Amino acid sequence: MTDFVNNNFADILLNRHSVRHFDPAVKISRDEMSQMIEEAHVAPSACNLQPWRFIVIDSEEGKDKLRTFFMRFNMPQLETSSAVVMIFGDTEAYKSYRDLWNKACNDGQISPEKRDEVLKTFLPLYENASRESLLFDAKTNSALVAMQFMLVARAHGYETNAIQGYASSAAAEALGLDSERYVPCMAIAIGKPDPAKQQAEVHSQRYPVEKISEFL
Ligand SMILES: Cc1cc2nc3c(=O)[nH]c(=O)nc-3n(C[C@H](O)[C@H](O)[C@H](O)COP(=O)(O)O)c2cc1C
Repeated sequence: MTDFVNNNFADILLNRHSVRHFDPAVKISRDEMSQMIEEAHVAPSACNLQPWRFIVIDSEEGKDKLRTFFMRFNMPQLETSSAVVMIFGDTEAYKSYRDLWNKACNDGQISPEKRDEVLKTFLPLYENASRESLLFDAKTNSALVAMQFMLVARAHGYETNAIQGYASSAAAEALGLDSERYVPCMAIAIGKPDPAKQQAEVHSQRYPVEKISEFL
């Protein structure tokens, strides 16, 4: 079990706010970043397809690539964060699905009969799915892992800003991914807040619960 630096769920959840100015001196090690991804990707996904891919941009060369398609108003986060984590949805995740269930079977978690039943039920849904539903699936599931990553970041003592202000049609290709297969979900800037700039960060309003919900 991870020893989180912040293990207070109320604080992690209720005191998360987008941070757009980070301390540029703070670096997050690749080991810790991988650990955070490991913790985030226990997120649920439809049929456990896990249709997500993380591209961690923590170098100047990597940030140069982001500079080609990020909108100007997101430059402060890009320039000051320890890293920008681009989360893509994978529209071909179902092609690895067989490997996942074979592993569960080899590990003794399920019987070969159960594995075959699962594959027979779910795989055709994806193999015959429209492009539209593969995109929908890839993006909605990736949004869950993205949210989870933002909360995990707080448990590690970091702050984040989710970002969609970029040319999404250019994102995959700029980062060397197959743009037919991978669809951008969001970028997440991560780091420690710049103490000098925190006064400028505005805490966001929320609508009243009655406006956004109803009971039937
Ligand atoms: C999918 C998504 C995309 C966003 N894109 C941007 C963005 O491009 N630039 C930015 O500064 N903030 C962006 N935000 C942050 C929102 O503005 C912010 O979450 C919202 O105003 C609520 O504030 P809070 O995060 O402090 O609670 C994005 C948030 C989400 C969830």
